[in-house]
Amino acid sequence: MNEIFHRVSVRKFEQKPVEQEKIIQILRAGMQAPSTGDQRPWEFYVVTNREKIVALSKCHKYAGCAANAPVLIVPVYRKEGVWLPEYEQIDMAIAQENIWLETDSLDLGGVWLGIAPMQDRMDKVAEILELPKNVTAFSIFVLGYPAEQRAQEDRFDASRIHWIE
Ligand SMILES: Cc1cc2nc3c(=O)[nH]c(=O)nc-3n(C[C@H](O)[C@H](O)[C@H](O)COP(=O)(O)O)c2cc1C
Repeated sequence: MNEIFHRVSVRKFEQKPVEQEKIIQILRAGMQAPSTGDQRPWEFYVVTNREKIVALSKCHKYAGCAANAPVLIVPVYRKEGVWLPEYEQIDMAIAQENIWLETDSLDLGGVWLGIAPMQDRMDKVAEILELPKNVTAFSIFVLGYPAEQRAQEDRFDASRIHWIE
């Protein structure tokens, strides 16, 4: 899959909105992720409100790049209606990676900002977005048209492979 070998973190963006159909295509990729027992714990908040974007960019010290993005996607997971809650963050991570790869395939760029499992960050995001009590913030995905280009680093390391024959 080309996107796996092309995707990089993008933290600088053109001042240009992202078309709604592209955002929906990206979220379609997120919802296509496999999940434990197919429990699909996710909901997605799409934030284009400038004040909320700026507030979220201050939710921890590595989130500053969010301030110059036109869109933030905040994946959250449900506290009820899932049968294997222990696996929810794993399910969410897979959906988040799908979102990142689809973003790359559409010639957009983004970066995953870690929120879960840090409780203080999760609480901050919930407070800023006034999330309902039945959902928990998982991450922030910063999205936009890239204003920086970078080739991906090759991370293949044959010494990490252990063949048992
Ligand atoms: C779970 C997770 C949390 C991350 N959190 C942040 C973050 O808070 N701020 C940030 O600027 N980048 C964050 N990143 C991006 C990583 O720093 C980046 O993926 C890593 O340095 C590798 O670079 P690449 O994405 O360009 O391959 C995060 C990535 C992951 C997977």
